[in-house]
Amino acid sequence: MKFAFTELSLPKRSSLAVPVFADNELSPTAMEVNELTGGALSRALETSRFKGKKGDYLEVLAPSGVEVSRVILLGFGEPEKLKLTDFENLGGSLVKKLNAAGARAVTFMLDGLDLEEIKDNEAAAHMAFGAKLATYRFEKYKSTSEEDSASQPSLTRMTVACKASSGARKSFADLEAIAEGVFMTRDLVSEPANVLHPESFAERCKELTALGVEVEILDEEKMRRLGMGALLGVGQGSIRESRIAIMQWNGATKKSAKKPIAFVGKGVCFDTGGISLKPGPGMEEMKWDMGGAGTVTGLMKALAGRKAKVNAVGVVGLVENMPDGNAQRPGDIVTAMNGTTIEILNTDAEGRLVLADALWYTQDRFDPEVMIDLATLTGAIIISLGHENAGLFSNNDELAEDIFAAGKEVGEGVWRLPMQKEYADQIKSPIADLQNIGTGGRGAGSIVAAEFLQKFVNDTPWAHLDIAGMAWSKKDTATVPKGGTGFGVRLLDQYVRAKYEGK
Ligand code: BES
Ligand code: MN
Ligand code: ZN
Repeated sequence: MKFAFTELSLPKRSSLAVPVFADNELSPTAMEVNELTGGALSRALETSRFKGKKGDYLEVLAPSGVEVSRVILLGFGEPEKLKLTDFENLGGSLVKKLNAAGARAVTFMLDGLDLEEIKDNEAAAHMAFGAKLATYRFEKYKSTSEEDSASQPSLTRMTVACKASSGARKSFADLEAIAEGVFMTRDLVSEPANVLHPESFAERCKELTALGVEVEILDEEKMRRLGMGALLGVGQGSIRESRIAIMQWNGATKKSAKKPIAFVGKGVCFDTGGISLKPGPGMEEMKWDMGGAGTVTGLMKALAGRKAKVNAVGVVGLVENMPDGNAQRPGDIVTAMNGTTIEILNTDAEGRLVLADALWYTQDRFDPEVMIDLATLTGAIIISLGHENAGLFSNNDELAEDIFAAGKEVGEGVWRLPMQKEYADQIKSPIADLQNIGTGGRGAGSIVAAEFLQKFVNDTPWAHLDIAGMAWSKKDTATVPKGGTGFGVRLLDQYVRAKYEGK
């Protein structure tokens, strides 16, 4: 779908959409159209339940007096309460409705707002951003029959008209780059594991070189030489070789050039559980156990795509966790890159083993200012927080607060959980330095996992996001269609903007 921005003037074709505020207060354009149509809008409002509440929707077809074929009234509620994310949701829900109605093009006339904190052109850009996010589909494996094509999205063009539209166009260019990053994450997360395995994932990372990202791949031989026994142990039951992909975006201007900020992702391309095999029902979901790596990759695409003024490095640990004659066994002891020995008590607690080596390698090589990892790490985080917030764990209060604030801003929620010695005590092994699961049974599983990760971050300011409840969604929202969500790309892009770019 194409997006455009223009100054405020009534379109001559296709669909026109206008805001209506609380208690059916019409926007200036809506009033003008109401007059041109001899009061068609007021009459339509009178016969419906539409109240101008945020998200209310009413369609007036082919009114006489205007050239457009359809006028859509979109409820905005009380304008002074609107946040940027509200504009995104309004844009997203408009797209959904117009696709259902079979509209091909729409012009949204954004006027009558006059907000203190949000300029019209920012609101316009964010409406288009939400609309763009809502257009995502993963349909490459669907052959289209005639019947299907009738239900294909009809909308191909959205124009947002507002004051100072050139400002909107400029903001949207950045937002579109972010959307492309989100889409890359959604694509990666949606791919089945026979297509997306460690080697092919690493190849996808290489595509980012087109945007100026430096990409390096570590193969098993290199990782063996580096001593990454924890990561390699997880992958040893798979016929696919494990990989680490390292993506570097150096966008900081000379003056601000300093240590990079690092993002690390769990990339378990399929998690069967290994010899500690998972139950069959629902196991197909474990194709998205590479969601953390998917987010890191999409985030690097977003940062490079909008030429972020920051030095960022993305490191993804890519493995497949399979049961096999050569697979790692419960009871095995492996040695991580930093020399720590780990007793494997459950081969299904594999994400922490992959991250152990990826985290240590990242801080050791790049000495980052902060290091943030993302992982679909524990089922327990879904028990704690459901599908509304990711779990946040950190050894640094300022970093945790910054990430929390970024989440609020973009509408990607995170909630901090505690870390303390008593939880860490649970992963002491009687015969090795660590064991990979806690002694507390089902209690505090997400925290114990975070404590395990912390053993491999040295003294780097670090945060861990457990996104097991967030990487995949079974229901549509205004801007996130069901399936891979791309959670974390917008959150961490916002963190970078606020912290490193003063935006
Ligand atoms: N990939 C899973 C966690 C997961 C579960 C992600 C459900 C998304 C949805 C992870 O590797 C795992 O299996 N964790 C175990 C840990 C346990 C063995 C300590 C879990 O959560 O049960
Ligand atoms: Mn597992
Ligand atoms: Zn896993």
